[in-house]
Amino acid sequence: MFTMKDSRTAKLRPVPVRKIRADAVAPLLLANIGQLLTMRSGSAGPRRGSALKELTIITDGSVLCVAGKIVSVGTTKDALRDLWLTSNRNKVTEIDCRGKVVLPGFVDSHTHPVFVNPRLVDFEKRIEGASYEEIASAGGGIRSSLEAVRKAPKKQLVEKVLTAFRDMAAHGTTTVEAKSGYGLTLVSELKSLAAIRDAASAWPGTAVPTLLGAHVVPEEFRNCSQKYIELVCTEMIPRAARERLAQFVDVFCDKGAFTPSQTEQVFAAAQANGLAVRAHMGQLSETTLAPFLRFKPASFDHMDQVSDSDVQQLAKHDTVATLVPGANYFLGLKHYPNARRLIDAGAPVALATDYNPGTSPTISMPMAMSLACTQMNMSPAEGITASTINGAWSLRLAHRKGSIEAGKDADLAVFAVKDYREIPYWFGPNHCTHTILNGILASAD
Ligand code: NIG
Ligand code: FE
Repeated sequence: MFTMKDSRTAKLRPVPVRKIRADAVAPLLLANIGQLLTMRSGSAGPRRGSALKELTIITDGSVLCVAGKIVSVGTTKDALRDLWLTSNRNKVTEIDCRGKVVLPGFVDSHTHPVFVNPRLVDFEKRIEGASYEEIASAGGGIRSSLEAVRKAPKKQLVEKVLTAFRDMAAHGTTTVEAKSGYGLTLVSELKSLAAIRDAASAWPGTAVPTLLGAHVVPEEFRNCSQKYIELVCTEMIPRAARERLAQFVDVFCDKGAFTPSQTEQVFAAAQANGLAVRAHMGQLSETTLAPFLRFKPASFDHMDQVSDSDVQQLAKHDTVATLVPGANYFLGLKHYPNARRLIDAGAPVALATDYNPGTSPTISMPMAMSLACTQMNMSPAEGITASTINGAWSLRLAHRKGSIEAGKDADLAVFAVKDYREIPYWFGPNHCTHTILNGILASAD
């Protein structure tokens, strides 16, 4: 009988802040997997419509990872016949995944991890009935997070971001998009992006940095938001691009934040500096999306309010609609984005946590999936696709991330459940037992 060592070579915490090299780790074999969700599919581009349900499950599966890459995927029987494996068994770390589910590590494609404090006063005010906009105009909201980030030494921000990345990994996330956006001065936005970079280099997973200088108009630019947009376009974006601190530029396009015309200016500046774009759209009010499509945005996020004609447009483009139900849940809203309308029309849909101190203080992708199932009528299979391969598409990383296929990065999550539908079903406790990030094993205990 093929017996496996239950390897616990790396703990999630405490991990010293140091560079981690995937090529330095032992080859890894996950075997006897109850359900292996490979997410392989014949469809090209981000998954839409019925392709969102294609999980391509192998029972009694196995995955072999070498030097941070997946090298073979199949049944355990196939793995045991593999010539390289039979002659190198003593060099391989093995994990027995009997009775468990293995799926691609989650791709959390929308997070705001660079903040210092939770916003507990806002939390209480909201419970007493104040709206998001009322809290913002009373001095709470995004602006109330700025001072602490501006004052914080970079090292403190690195620790905050790294702690969030580790918690995410403990819940199965292996790739994280991470935005700046709580500094809103040139110096503090660059410091926030540098904190993301430093945290990423001490974490075995993959972080994708986004400049969100256009998050809100800071107090010192009140009544002259156009001047602030000029600062974003002529100083922040060029510096972030030149210093390779960001891959994307994001804008909060909504009432109380930035107008469609300011959003176009930011997109144009990003494009001129070689950076890709994404935007918060339709969270509080509807914005016509079609004029922005010429910038080929990687994603439009939130999408609570969107017109029928824009949904039809999205069905014809690769811009992903990224839904963040954690924000609706935490804001106590009755309404959630209409995922069914988007999916049934053929628009590509991703799920993300929107981890942030104001609207969605959760790092848990299983929680986002659970909300997607119960509040947005997405099936568990659609939720998993939206949290893996479609998240990867929205970060332009689908060639490396989001499915379990030979040649892709070894990013895997192991859950102590027999059936993948249990991942969104058992909401609350964490059932992720192991996470493999670029070939490096982190176990939850
Ligand atoms: O995605 N909408 C803009 N940004 C965040 C909220 C940030 C905050 O309130 O701190 C969001 O919901
Ligand atoms: Fe957000």
